[in-house]
Amino acid sequence: MVTVYIDDKPRQANPKQNLLHACLSLGFDLPYFCWHPALGSVGACRQCAVKQFRNEQDTAGKLVMACMTPAADGTRISIADPEAVVFRAAVIQGLMQNHPHDCPVCDEGGECHLQDMTVMTGHRSRVYSFGKRTFRNQYLGPLVNHEMNRCIQCQRCVRFYREYAGGDDLNAFHLRDTVYYGRHEDGVLENEFSGNLVEICPTGVFTDATLKRHYTRKWDLQMAPSICVHCGLGCNTTVGERYGTLRRVVNRYNHEVNGYFLCDRGRFGHEFVESNLRIRHPLLNGKAATKSEALGRFGAILREGKVLGIGSPRASLESNFALRTLVGPDRFFAGTSDQELQLLSNILRILREGPARSPSLNEVEHSDAVFVLGEDVTNVAPIMALRLRQAVRQAPMQIAAKLHIPEWLDHSVREAVQNAKGPLFIASSYATKLDDIAAATYHAAPDDLARLSFAVAHAIDPSAPEVTGLLPELETMVADIASALLAGRHPLVVSGTSCGSQSVVEAAAQVAWALCRVGHPAALSFTTPECNSFGLALMEPRPLSEAFRAIKSEPTNTLIVLENDLSRHGPASAVASLLSGARHLVVLDHLNNATTETAELVLPAGTFAESDGTLVNNEGRAQRFFQVFDPSSDVQESWRWLCEGSAAADVESAESPWESLDDLTTAMAEEMHVFVSIPQVAPPRTAVGKIAREPNRYSGRTSMLADISVHEPKPPDDADSALAFSMESGPELAPSSLIPFFWAPGWNSIQATNKFQSEVGGPLRGGDPGIRLIEPSQEPGWQYHSTVPAAFRPHPDEWLLVPIFHIFGSEELSRHAQGIAQLAPLPYVALNPVEASRSGVNAGEQIKVSIEGSLFELEVMLRADLPRGVAGLPAGLSPVGGIILPAFCTLAPVLTEPSRGAP
Ligand code: SF4
Ligand code: SF4
Ligand code: FES
Repeated sequence: MVTVYIDDKPRQANPKQNLLHACLSLGFDLPYFCWHPALGSVGACRQCAVKQFRNEQDTAGKLVMACMTPAADGTRISIADPEAVVFRAAVIQGLMQNHPHDCPVCDEGGECHLQDMTVMTGHRSRVYSFGKRTFRNQYLGPLVNHEMNRCIQCQRCVRFYREYAGGDDLNAFHLRDTVYYGRHEDGVLENEFSGNLVEICPTGVFTDATLKRHYTRKWDLQMAPSICVHCGLGCNTTVGERYGTLRRVVNRYNHEVNGYFLCDRGRFGHEFVESNLRIRHPLLNGKAATKSEALGRFGAILREGKVLGIGSPRASLESNFALRTLVGPDRFFAGTSDQELQLLSNILRILREGPARSPSLNEVEHSDAVFVLGEDVTNVAPIMALRLRQAVRQAPMQIAAKLHIPEWLDHSVREAVQNAKGPLFIASSYATKLDDIAAATYHAAPDDLARLSFAVAHAIDPSAPEVTGLLPELETMVADIASALLAGRHPLVVSGTSCGSQSVVEAAAQVAWALCRVGHPAALSFTTPECNSFGLALMEPRPLSEAFRAIKSEPTNTLIVLENDLSRHGPASAVASLLSGARHLVVLDHLNNATTETAELVLPAGTFAESDGTLVNNEGRAQRFFQVFDPSSDVQESWRWLCEGSAAADVESAESPWESLDDLTTAMAEEMHVFVSIPQVAPPRTAVGKIAREPNRYSGRTSMLADISVHEPKPPDDADSALAFSMESGPELAPSSLIPFFWAPGWNSIQATNKFQSEVGGPLRGGDPGIRLIEPSQEPGWQYHSTVPAAFRPHPDEWLLVPIFHIFGSEELSRHAQGIAQLAPLPYVALNPVEASRSGVNAGEQIKVSIEGSLFELEVMLRADLPRGVAGLPAGLSPVGGIILPAFCTLAPVLTEPSRGAP
């Protein structure tokens, strides 16, 4: 740390920061626009001016931009200097000349960085009386709205979109004295992170188009900290409700997980909570039932005994644990395909018994040599892809360091580095969106991907098993990957379950382990398919196929299915006989699906917005999500239904085994050692004072329910957390895991996050939320994997069908959101053009796909990046659910009947 003097007072500052960053970290209110902790400085807006003095005797000083000046030892600046104050006010005045002053109708109003900075600088009245510059707005798709007149030309949007997120369809268009930020023509924004423009833009140019349908000001939202449920990364979110409906999801900063950003699936996928398919009341034999009727029936069914339970990779740890306890560990089965469970179990073994550590997403970003094996990271784990886009900047940063350019001086760094990128190698079944930043790519069938990786491990450590018969052209790539990983200070291997291949998973581990063995410890990150895939696997459920067998061989009275549409996880006939095999089928879920339709009793389970619970992400980090609002219907957490059902069955005590989330997490910690730290993931309810979910400007509390009663109802009690369904809070600051929203006096926008960090852009005060459950072994006795698969040989009459992932459509819940449904592709089968001609079809024609006894017709899409002998099917969008890929299929053109009268 160094000493800088701010308004004559000595302060300790980080010399790696600029003065704006340092002032904000020290808690000063200094206005800014173009700077962002994740984007660095470009000095474009001139808003952060301060007076800098040469020494103690210098009384004249000069104006400098704080964001462009290093926090060097002995630097003397004044924020309060009158000239600096006037300058900053003049800058705002200039920006406001063309700004439409339409705050009352602007969606950003009340959480606008421009509003905050205008108030902060003291600019109060408009002195310019001429016409304002105006622009035509663009249609940018169903997720983001455009209102260009509000632009203050800070450049953050294009810097984020193009330089940070890798998009190329949004730009700054200059003509004479105007700059336009948009697309070259109307059209859907193509980048998967476009929703971040809503938070990055300091004004209301880019706003949430989905929120427009159920708009609410930030100050009128009841909010709670939550976790995204749309992939396995566990990005932290802040979720807002008004009038009993979910209104929006925004980013919740967690330095170690998602930082400042969310992907578009995570930000806009929440509308499934308000879907027409929502189950809000119990259903008994397809007819609505009251809660007491449902519990009475549930209790009676449970009293008959002989109950099997199917857990869920998208339900909380607590709900899975409640079901496991109710049915007993021996009768608790995984709600995933056997293939997926085996992959997850193998990954857990690798991460716990091997030497390589699973990194946080922040550590992913700081890797300087990366090998991705078998994953389409952008479509499977989107924010990891955003982190990898920053990781390739790590190695070239050395060029800037040699020129003494600080990392935060963004455009100077980019000038120095030019197009240089650090080593990122991608081996996948098809071309991925990250290929544009890769040093080299290889597209092949899963077994060939694994062979490449085993060969890399052998090149790093010759004591690892050798791969024979590798194609000569791959030898160079193997050597390049090995030497780049060995040269990296923070090498990283990324893989996951997407290929459905144990060989791929083991081959990825082999590379990381080989690096560890030769003294270059590598991080090893696996993507996981669902938000609690690891949590479910850690419970060690029995495979689903054993449930298929058990239901046939043992007399079973009741099958309970927890938050799961089993038709997605197993062959249709096996799932059908499982669901009809017991006398009673009880399903707990939040959306109607093929599984709920067959149930005798359906219990309405709370979504992430109506529940509390814990999820374990791909890093092995357990994170807590909290109820945003108390649903007025019968909806409640699955674990609560299971507790109450169990109490209803036990007429003797008629007591629920656990009354609250804290009771349940304590029981879980006592029962299963792996969950011993779960009670500390967030403070217990009684450990902190009440924390208000509603901001202190929340309006209409006394009148919003006046149509029901003119007496203001008592807010519901929260038995499960310290969060209160009210505006009233205790005096304490919320612990980091319980921050319901970021707000500080004078900081209504998301920039208020600055006030909650120990250092701006660094960890949250008190540490980032979440507790890691998985650490590598310290024992040296691990062994390399010894089975290298044989090379893939295309079959003469069959194609290996692999899943192709889509950020919009492949995930089960988000595709019920209106905007996401609009962007999801229709089912198709993808073929290499050579393969298509072998099958006698062209692009756009229908083809018959026959796989594991199912036959369906799909439109042909040509993809030259698919390897020979391989075809692709969009994951999660298959017209026939439950097909476990990869698997071989046959293809046949659809013969059209010659029309009547044709020759
Ligand atoms: S659109 Fe927003 S982010 Fe982009 S330059 Fe204008 S004000 Fe800045
Ligand atoms: S990357 Fe995954 S967890 Fe993060 S916002 Fe997107 S879908 Fe949600
Ligand atoms: S924030 Fe310093 S010039 Fe824009």
